[in-house]
Amino acid sequence: MLDRLWGLFRGKPALVRGTARLAEGQAKQVEFGDVLAGGKAVLLCRVDGELHALDTRCPHEGGRLIEGPLVEGRLALCPLHNYTFEPKTGRVVRGSCGKATVYRVRERDGDAEVWI
Ligand code: FES
Repeated sequence: MLDRLWGLFRGKPALVRGTARLAEGQAKQVEFGDVLAGGKAVLLCRVDGELHALDTRCPHEGGRLIEGPLVEGRLALCPLHNYTFEPKTGRVVRGSCGKATVYRVRERDGDAEVWI
């Protein structure tokens, strides 16, 4: 059912208001739908002034990337085994696993559109 609902929005961005308030080196989680029922949790990260969007699901062993200050001001953290990920590409920097899922994001007029 939820897959059918996502299908309706596929290719269309979801709007996140007020992303201009996300400070440099910070990460904030936003949710699209009920995460426990198949919705998505996305981590918005501000690095070098640019906004990036990562799925919070860690590709290692099922942990979740967390919001708050980014490690060294530029890396998303999964606290389960302290792996870190590059928000722009999803590449693991400290750790050994595949990439985190990244989503296309575009900021406009202080808000953001995220293609989930
Ligand atoms: S589950 Fe995320 S680092 Fe291990």
